[in-house]
This record gives sequence, C-alpha cells and structure tokens, in this order.
Amino acid sequence: MKTSERLDRLAPYLFAELERRIAEKRAAGVDVISLGIGDPDTPTSALMADALAAAAQDPGTHRYPSNRGRPEFREAVRNFYERRFGVALDAETEIIPALGAKECIFNLNLAFLDPGTSALAADPGYPVYTGGPLLVGAEVDRIGLRPELGFAPDLDAVPAEAARRARLMYLNYPNNPTGAVVPGGLFERAIAFARQHELLVVHDASYTETTFDGYVAPSFLETPGAKEVGVEVFSLSKGYNMTGWRTAAIVGNAEAIAAYWKLKTNIDSGMFEAVQLAAVAALSERGDTVARKMSDVYQRRRDLVCNALAEIGVGVTPPKGTIYVWAPVPEGHTSASYCELVLEESGVVVSPGGSYGPNGEGFFRISLTVPDERLSEAVERLRASLGG
Ligand SMILES: Cc1ncc(COP(=O)(O)O)c(C=O)c1O
Repeated sequence: MKTSERLDRLAPYLFAELERRIAEKRAAGVDVISLGIGDPDTPTSALMADALAAAAQDPGTHRYPSNRGRPEFREAVRNFYERRFGVALDAETEIIPALGAKECIFNLNLAFLDPGTSALAADPGYPVYTGGPLLVGAEVDRIGLRPELGFAPDLDAVPAEAARRARLMYLNYPNNPTGAVVPGGLFERAIAFARQHELLVVHDASYTETTFDGYVAPSFLETPGAKEVGVEVFSLSKGYNMTGWRTAAIVGNAEAIAAYWKLKTNIDSGMFEAVQLAAVAALSERGDTVARKMSDVYQRRRDLVCNALAEIGVGVTPPKGTIYVWAPVPEGHTSASYCELVLEESGVVVSPGGSYGPNGEGFFRISLTVPDERLSEAVERLRASLGG
C-alpha cells in the first residue's frame, strides 16, 4: 500500500509515541503516572452535560447542522467576547463553530496555503502548527520563542525569505508548552508584521480561561487593528474541561472566516447542534465560574509541582496560565535523554521539550492533568529518584 508523500513528510505524532511508551511500561508491570498529555482528568461540569442531555432529547438538533452554527451558538460567543474581553463581534460574519482548535488550525492551512508558501509557526509549539502546513503540501518556517523575551518570537529576526512566502502566522498565549503569558507589545508587533507582509495572524486562544494568581489573559482581538489581520481560535477544551466534546469557535476577520467556512462546507457537516447548545451553557456567566474553579485546581497543582522542583534543584518560573509546567533539564542531558531517565527511574512520563520543536530542546514539560493524589505521588517519586 502506498500512502501519500504528504503523509510521509510527517514525523509520528508526539502523543502517539508517548502512548506507545506508556503501554509498553504498563505491560511490563510498571505503575506509570503520565504527566505527558494535557487532557483534563476531572469530568465536564453538569452545567454542560445537562444542557447536552436536554438538547439531545430535542429532535430539532438531530439533523445535519449548518457549518455556520446555530444562531444561539454564535450569539453566545458574541456575548462572551463582549463580557470577557470587551471585544465586539458580528455574530453573522465574524463567528463560526469549529470542531476543536486542532481541526480549525489544520484546516486554515488548507484554506490559505499553496505549494511554495508557508506558515510561520511558534517554536516550541503545538505540533499542528508545523505538521499542518506540511500536510497540505506547503512549508513551515519556525519562529523561535525566546526565553529572554518572555517566550515571544523575535519578529525582527524573521528572515526576509520566510516573511515573503508566509501567509499565516501561528501564535498562542497563554502558551503551550512554555506556560508563558503574552509578553507586552507582542500582539501589536504581530499586527504590524502582518500588515507589512500581508499575512493572517492566527491566535490560538486555547488557554485564556486557565490562569493563576489573578492574571487575566487578553484576547488577541483586544489589540487595535487585530481584526483587520487576524483571527482567534477559542477552544472550550481546556478551560471548560470539554476535550472530548470537540468544541471551539473561530472569531475575527470576516474574510478569513468566510474562506474557512467555504472550505468546511466541502469537508464536514458541522458540530452536533446539541453540543453547540452545551457550549452555549459553558459560555454563560455560570460557565465563568466553572472555568474559574478549574483554574483554582490547576493553580494548586502548579504550586505542588513547582515547589517540589525547586526542592530538587530544578529552577522553574511558576506559570501564570495553562495546564503545564515547563522546566529546564539538568546539565549533561538532552530533553529526550532526561525524559527517558525519569521514566526508567520513577515510572513518571514527562514530555521532552525537543518534541515541540528545536527551540524546546533543553526543557521538559509536566502536565497538571492528573488527580492531586497521583500528582503528589509523581512528585514524591521524582524527588526520590532525582533529588539526590
Ligand atoms: C495550544 C493548543 N492548541 C490547540 C489544542 C487542541 O485544542 P482542541 O481540543 O480544541 O482541538 C491544544 C491541545 O493540547 C493546545 O495545547
């Protein structure tokens, strides 16, 4: 069987490899604690589950959905953006549903890239920013996130050829995997860059609702001029514990959203309307409380992990958002060799920074998505095996 050259261009998906390693260890009798994957462990709130159950009883939700989304969905996103970010959106032209940020980001590549053009992808970054462009037969140019710039890319250092061929630029704050929040002035610089090079900024807002210590994450669209050059992908997966529900929205530039919509009408048939109505519940003021409670859970876990790492001599900056802690590997290790050592010595899975891009080398990522007792156990094991 011959698979496509497009597919051959891709490395195995990071988490598929992690799952394989975990299964191998478990089969060998090891009690593995996986801090590798960012999939919230607690159930979705009854607020959304009840809304789904009620909507699923209504035959009005059972037919093919429209890719534009139900009016209630678009209106709920509009209200949410106004209440939460002070951003005014037109529910007719500037909002449509997406089947998760992953689907949306991948399909934006299909809608905007041709062979010979590229996407500028934050590195380290969510793997779809780099895999997506390759899968559609285009190119990717990585823009390194620099720790000394607060994990902003240095846009002045983007080579002229990369800027010339780029049609998309992926940014993401609060950031996976570094946990960084948006450095001051970055969104403004990105807008100027997009104007200069005529590209679309895609801001991945998967973690704006998961923040700590009173920090409130902005929307990219709050920055003046953002809507002229950009879209934001707002996912309900992490902030509202809805990873399995595949629910997000793309908002912002109407022309870009029309292109995405045109593509989608040829690819899938939209989001189950009962799920859209559950998303309406999540985006209500009651949903704000759900997201706040989840942030409190992660803040507690973040403290547990950061304190333990400090005790064993690993210097980390406690993140102000996301569900991850990003830490440097000890001297003498690559990120892969260190993660292998951690797994061998303690049965704890952490992910190597290098798998999020070359600029992630030298770091590892801990995900906070296991119950507190398991996280404490993992931290104890790390302390015992690596502390001495
Ligand atoms: C930065 C980022 N974007 C997107 C996603 C995927 O989001 P969704 O579940 O909405 O597809 C993730 C999941 O880990 C992520 O970390």
